[in-house]
Amino acid sequence: MKAYRLHAFEGPDAIRWEDLPTPEPGPGQIRVRVRATSLNFRDLMISKGIYNPRLKLPLIPLSDGAGEVSAVGTGVTRYRLGDRVVSAFMPGWVDGEPTDTKVRSALGGEVDGMLAEEVVLPETGVLPIPSHLSFEEAATLPCAAVTAWNALFETGSLQPGDSVLVQGTGGVSIFALQFARMAGARVIVTSSSDAKLARVKEMGASDLINYRTTPDWDKPVRQLTGGVGVDAIVEVGGAGTLPLSIRCVKLGGYVALIGVLTGGGEFNPMPVLMRHIRLQGIFVGSVQMFAGMLKAIEVAQMRPVIDRVFPFEQAIDALKHMESGSHFGKVVIRV
Ligand SMILES: NC(=O)c1ccc[n+]([C@@H]2O[C@H](COP(=O)([O-])OP(=O)(O)OC[C@H]3O[C@@H](n4cnc5c(N)ncnc54)[C@H](OP(=O)(O)O)[C@@H]3O)[C@@H](O)[C@H]2O)c1
Repeated sequence: MKAYRLHAFEGPDAIRWEDLPTPEPGPGQIRVRVRATSLNFRDLMISKGIYNPRLKLPLIPLSDGAGEVSAVGTGVTRYRLGDRVVSAFMPGWVDGEPTDTKVRSALGGEVDGMLAEEVVLPETGVLPIPSHLSFEEAATLPCAAVTAWNALFETGSLQPGDSVLVQGTGGVSIFALQFARMAGARVIVTSSSDAKLARVKEMGASDLINYRTTPDWDKPVRQLTGGVGVDAIVEVGGAGTLPLSIRCVKLGGYVALIGVLTGGGEFNPMPVLMRHIRLQGIFVGSVQMFAGMLKAIEVAQMRPVIDRVFPFEQAIDALKHMESGSHFGKVVIRV
């Protein structure tokens, strides 16, 4: 089978297309003929050694994929040949609280990932694809969508009528906008691009702020909420955005700490305690959370927003496209 492997922490160009033996499923495992994968910012960070420079190489990258079952191991009861399935980001985090062992099962990290024609996964670490979604659409869900879902509804407790600030228009943020709208929340979106802001308005965002032309965007957020601040923030920016987020979340509000797009760095914790803010780290979510999210997606007939689909042969170009930051929603590779 064909697969890509990262051979050095030197960015997308250190990922090579190779012939590898087709893996065979063991007891309780299934083999999936991958039909589509999707990219996350993490995949870029992993390729550059920024995410975890101690990961073992060579490594098959990417956490997210969807396809059909091509072989089943002994004892498998949930799936049959031909079933359409989507991988979980951490197939070993089935339910309950995360543990070190569960989070080490993250695909495309300590374990080989989805950028291959065939992959072997535990049957408990995949889920059936809702019938209205294509492989490409389903492949967008495991990391970005589950993270947004967990941030808003599992660890967070978003209610209809609440206000949410969503930063940027990448994978996690567009899912957060879609889910928050499904739940009847008011969504304020920041972006570097007026054209992208026009698109999120069509998707139901009520208030738009260009963070390039308005670098102190915490002020309009406070004004838009009558000086109170928003109930919740989907924080994907990291050190460059967190101080502003803390200034425009309401007293006692919730900041889901998800991303580091502007990098790490120092910040003053004083306002967090003075203003009773709940600052909560989120690391994707469990298979059980994913299953709950899929039910909601099916009921709402929600469709993920795909920016562009690249052929398998152009996987490196897909990563570079993501690196450019020009995308809106998810970048997909058809396998
Ligand atoms: N903790 C977790 O479990 C988890 C899971 C998934 C992702 N993440 C993290 O979350 C972040 C986003 O991931 P992703 O896959 O959604 O990335 P992505 O699709 O590459 O999103 C990039 C977008 O973020 C926006 N952005 C960049 N700098 C910004 C800033 N200073 N303020 C506001 N928006 C900014 C830009 O939107 P515009 O073009 O509109 O400006 C950019 O297009 C990454 O740091 C990633 O590592 C964490």
